[in-house]
Amino acid sequence: MKTKTLFTVLFFVSILFTTQLSLAQLPKETETQKAERMKWWTDARFGMFIHWGLYALPARHEWVKNAERMTNEQYQKYFEMFNPDMWDPHEWAKMAKAAGMKYVVLTAKHHEGFCLFDSKFTDYKATNTPYGKDLIKEYVEAFRAEGLKVGFYYSLIDWHHPDYTIDRVHPQRQESDTAYARLNKGRDMNKYREYIKNQVRELLTNYGEISIIWFDFSFPGKNGKGHKDWDSENLLKMARSLQPGIIVDDRLDLEDVEGGWDFTTPEQVQVSKWPEVNGKRVPWETCQTFSGSWGYYRDENTWKSTAQLIELLIESVSKGGNLLLNVGPTARGVFDYRAQDRLKSMGEWMKFNSRSIYGCTEAPAEFKAPANTLLTYNPVLKRLYVHLLAYPMESLVLANMADKVKYVQFLHDASEIRFRASDESKNDLILSLPVQKPPVEIPVLEIYLK
Ligand code: GLC
Repeated sequence: MKTKTLFTVLFFVSILFTTQLSLAQLPKETETQKAERMKWWTDARFGMFIHWGLYALPARHEWVKNAERMTNEQYQKYFEMFNPDMWDPHEWAKMAKAAGMKYVVLTAKHHEGFCLFDSKFTDYKATNTPYGKDLIKEYVEAFRAEGLKVGFYYSLIDWHHPDYTIDRVHPQRQESDTAYARLNKGRDMNKYREYIKNQVRELLTNYGEISIIWFDFSFPGKNGKGHKDWDSENLLKMARSLQPGIIVDDRLDLEDVEGGWDFTTPEQVQVSKWPEVNGKRVPWETCQTFSGSWGYYRDENTWKSTAQLIELLIESVSKGGNLLLNVGPTARGVFDYRAQDRLKSMGEWMKFNSRSIYGCTEAPAEFKAPANTLLTYNPVLKRLYVHLLAYPMESLVLANMADKVKYVQFLHDASEIRFRASDESKNDLILSLPVQKPPVEIPVLEIYLK
């Protein structure tokens, strides 16, 4: 009788155990634990994205292989020519830091499939080009030395791997199902799934602490790919177990899975309000380019101005989000002169005004932004920041705030801004501004609240 009970218990325990395994549990976390894990990132607000790969050579978009429907053979010349002789990752890291950026995400592999790191699982990597070295290793060390948190972008899509099936965003995309079937004969996604797991394991094992992994991207549906194609849950489970603190984007097609993503990624758009999921505000980061393409694009002439870029940063923080601003370095290994110019100017602004960015978020609803301004708020310091996008004529009215304000100053030089209650509407506050706009791209008022 006793042994029978023991067997029954063992039987149920083993069933429980096997279902647990097959259901690929992601680590459970409370909202507070998640916020705590992500705190450095939400405080940082400003990071650098770097798209660098073979596409820097054609210099006409990182999707060039796709746009021009090139075969591996046609694309091979860029691999054979890859030799960024002027590359100094310390210089990159210094520029990012001087711009006020606190973290960095570099393409370890983009859609073209070329690996900047010395992967054991492919020959298609930097160490086999004329350059001959593991770029990821040098990158990680250089940015860490400047105190930035280091992350990797890893493309789920791969236009080079022989087992990756041709799909609707592939350079060899087709018109008919029979054509797809013919081309995909012999390609084995099981092997490709193993490949990405092996590579992500390498990236998250061989380079010390990695703070962010940016998977890109899923496109479910006909001739598309989604979480089943990547085995996203197990991939993510592995990533989280190798780097327990790691922060993960939302492009694994796991939007509905608990713990399947950490932040949402509006790309090249300005959000109209703090993004929500099921009625709850979620962490978010907008990724943006200086000019339109992510990889180096020599002839693109749609560069945003410094003022627009600073505004983009403030705008994001004013809605509780981060900005990941992208640089596409050249094939010599340097930042485009236009990128250098803008980074420098952003750095000048940040040097004096970063207090309105770091640790800040959307202002509580009781504070209304006057026309042509953006508000940010530091909940720990209890300070409100008013960013003057257009410089007002001598005064600025803060509606309904007379009883809330202790002290006001310009942020860049800590010079006092005097204020008085309005005669007409007693609780409106009138700030007296100097006639001349101070020599700051976007001046900021720092308001100490009662
Ligand atoms: C898109 C593009 C890609 C770029 C990414 C950045 O998904 O495919 O080229 O790397 O956006 O967010």
